[in-house]
Amino acid sequence: MENRFSGKVAVVTGSSHGIGLAAVEIFASQGAKVYLVDIDRNKGGEAALKLREQGLNVKFIECDVASPQSVQNMVASIEENNVDILCNNAGVELTAGIDETSVEEWDRLSSINLRGPFLVTKALLPLLEVKGAAVVNTSSISGLLGWPLSTAYCATKGGVIQLTKQLACDLGAKNIRVNCVCPGTTKTPMLSRLLSDDEEGRQAAKEIAARHLLKRFAEPREIAEAIVFLASDAASFVTGAVLPVDGGYTAK
Ligand SMILES: NC(=O)c1ccc[n+]([C@@H]2O[C@H](COP(=O)([O-])OP(=O)(O)OC[C@H]3O[C@@H](n4cnc5c(N)ncnc54)[C@H](O)[C@@H]3O)[C@@H](O)[C@H]2O)c1
Repeated sequence: MENRFSGKVAVVTGSSHGIGLAAVEIFASQGAKVYLVDIDRNKGGEAALKLREQGLNVKFIECDVASPQSVQNMVASIEENNVDILCNNAGVELTAGIDETSVEEWDRLSSINLRGPFLVTKALLPLLEVKGAAVVNTSSISGLLGWPLSTAYCATKGGVIQLTKQLACDLGAKNIRVNCVCPGTTKTPMLSRLLSDDEEGRQAAKEIAARHLLKRFAEPREIAEAIVFLASDAASFVTGAVLPVDGGYTAK
């Protein structure tokens, strides 16, 4: 277990914070070289430095996953000629129903949450094909269910699920497995932005937590462990799978 990713190269997008950073920590502490890819240069650089100080092999690459040019530059910065693991995890939220969602906001969410995984997977394909690889996308319970005031977020996360299945079809013959996780509510900066830091926010948090069968939110590491499982050889015959990691939210 200790070194199960030794000799492997992993790329994790959206990994300055939250779920992505937790996945970087697990891959790197189990022997992988990890590229921490994020749009946030300060947070990403700091996170990578901190992990390197712990002796882990982590390198930061600044990248906007919505931009084809930025994604090409990111791929060009990878020092190895193969990539074993790609986690398309970068994502942004928006609390708005269709009336309040502008066309610009729709396009922004689509370009990060859905075009991002498409662009990054496409640009990395030549490196993923070298030895075969595992791709793990981060969708959401919002990709499985409707959710009030979440038009663009739910639609893009639903798209990530279908993209996962389609890429599994496209890439299976190349020994590239493609799966996705659907996290329930997870304690990350994204959640802090969604819930106000006042009595109303605390009440909303209680109500949302109660809708998970386990009656609580996830820790980022609990989602990251599922991502790491799907990326590992323990999941060598798993592809096209959609795994809720949601404390039972979607079981009811
Ligand atoms: N937190 C939750 O409750 C929850 C639930 C279900 C799914 N998710 C999904 O999990 C993933 C990680 O979310 P999180 O909660 O850790 O969020 P987070 O906001 O803590 O982290 C998201 C990361 O993505 C990065 N990012 C944003 N736009 C980017 C871009 N254009 N290019 C590159 N990086 C970009 C951010 O800088 C940040 O580091 C997202 O896809 C999110 O939709 C989160």
